[in-house]
Amino acid sequence: MCGIIGINSNKSVSATIINSLKKLEYRGYDSAGIATLSEGLINEVKTEGRVDKLEKNSLVQNMEGKIGIGHVRWATHGLPNSINAHPHSSQNVSVVHNGIIENSTLLKKFLVEKGHKFKSQTDTEVIVHLITEHLRTQNIVNSIKKTLKSLHGSFALGILFKDQPDLIVGARRGSPLAVGYGPNENYLGSDSYALKSMTNKITYLDDGEFCFIKKDHVEFFDEEGTKINKKVLELSSDEKKYDKGDYKHFMAKEIDDQPITLKNGIKEYLDNTNNDINIYNFPWKINDISSITLIGCGTAYHSCLMAKYWFEELTSLDVSVDIASEFRYRKNRFKKENLYVFVSQSGETADTYAALDLCKNNGMKTCSVVNVIESSIARKSEFVLPIHCGTEIGVASTKAFLGQMLILYILSLKLGLLRKDLKKEIFIQKLKDIKDLPNLVEKTLLTDNKIQTISSTFNKAKGSMFLGRGFSYPIALEGALKLKELSYIHAEGYPAGEMKHGPLALIEEGMPVVVLAPRDNYYKKTISNMQEVIARGAKVLLITNKSNDNVISENIWETVVVESTNEDLLPFLLTIPLQKLAYYSALKKGFDIDKPRNLAKSVTVE
Ligand code: AGP
Repeated sequence: MCGIIGINSNKSVSATIINSLKKLEYRGYDSAGIATLSEGLINEVKTEGRVDKLEKNSLVQNMEGKIGIGHVRWATHGLPNSINAHPHSSQNVSVVHNGIIENSTLLKKFLVEKGHKFKSQTDTEVIVHLITEHLRTQNIVNSIKKTLKSLHGSFALGILFKDQPDLIVGARRGSPLAVGYGPNENYLGSDSYALKSMTNKITYLDDGEFCFIKKDHVEFFDEEGTKINKKVLELSSDEKKYDKGDYKHFMAKEIDDQPITLKNGIKEYLDNTNNDINIYNFPWKINDISSITLIGCGTAYHSCLMAKYWFEELTSLDVSVDIASEFRYRKNRFKKENLYVFVSQSGETADTYAALDLCKNNGMKTCSVVNVIESSIARKSEFVLPIHCGTEIGVASTKAFLGQMLILYILSLKLGLLRKDLKKEIFIQKLKDIKDLPNLVEKTLLTDNKIQTISSTFNKAKGSMFLGRGFSYPIALEGALKLKELSYIHAEGYPAGEMKHGPLALIEEGMPVVVLAPRDNYYKKTISNMQEVIARGAKVLLITNKSNDNVISENIWETVVVESTNEDLLPFLLTIPLQKLAYYSALKKGFDIDKPRNLAKSVTVE
């Protein structure tokens, strides 16, 4: 996590570095810092808290220097305070780092014995001292090469040298890093997003590589220090999409944008002329696939879990779902006939990337469902299905969740058809239903007022539960995740049928419990489970869909009714009030909605 920026220019860089850091805050926001080189000295300013605070510091406002590096931090080693904030500098070298150095304790011991003095509790500081140590006897290329070889773990680095007024070094292993090219200046950034306002010409570093960023050119090296050539990519410019318009928070906008983002996804994938799904370039023979494994983290994992229900319903494939951080270290039985699908909004999540890497190294078929098409995960996968929902800024994932579900649903339909598990007429009917979905989401967004009122009760609660069965179970998990990450209220998502096997003991008088009970196959069973929690004092918020018959149940505290559609698509609609519930609970508590405490948008450490 953490964001890195570096600029080597022929004009003052501090203000541009600060602006870029603001864009990078989605990667971490517990502390920030900047270092520039001027008149042969490294100037460093750091602060705990946000970039705004750094910007207001008079030292930053008067900071000189035409070359510099900046950082926003998401703490791994050491408290989020100004001492542990990056850059970390010796007299000769200044370093910003994203990732974790796993052998920092050992390296620190070695360096302390050599007389190096440490100021912070971070793992990063060993990098500063290692480079400083090697520079005593070796040139820059060899010092960097030697330092990188002794580091275990993951890193993206930006390095500034006191004696090199025209050099920023970038290096990557495991954490993303990009180089950007401008007129008379060049840049380093932890992703293309940070660089987009300055350039659309980008080169991504691959694992093991490092680069020398000079004002007028960039040199790339492999891990042996041999010069290599790299491609320059041109990115499309979509700056306007980052605006939150009249909304108070990106999250509120991103929730309300969902009818549009779904429409975009549908436009890309539905072939109206042929009544088909536009996945014609599927790179494998359909009969070579007999099972599928879906892998992701957090919300992306929930969309994988959702997809399991659809794949089982619509295809005869064996389906398994995995949390990336578990998958990557388990003794997996890799199967040639298995398709591995990696789901990630950012496309940079370290655990998901590592799981993909593992599958690739074992010669498996890999496909990714991502939002950021230039991301590391997209670039590494054999086949990419973009979700086309536009930049998502709010740390809590909303429109990307619906986008991921849409693509996974579409993929399950396509594979069902190709495998002849699904009849063409049913397939065509389901395509029609998909086309109606944006409109139904739009109407379901009108539950807003009711949810606003209901959210007050959640705010006063010690804890809450989200229950669902079948298609609604993954949505219950997602609803609970949204509430806890935004409003810091303890929330458990559970399969409704599991309550009596333990969690029922948590229910006490007045506890808010959300029950997802759409009119599907599970409806009656879920309503019985709902009565069991009501009988133990729970205040039940029932979320169901429109139907001709009224809910046949008593003592329900509140009911929210979403639109109706075919059973497969109800999860999309059930998600909307849960996103709003989390949003309004956090709003009423006055929390930072787009940047919840302790979290970051892109989780590039494991
Ligand atoms: C969701 O609201 C989260 N903030 C988080 O769980 C997120 O979905 C997870 O970190 C995975 O991110 P990715 O989709 O970018 O891989």
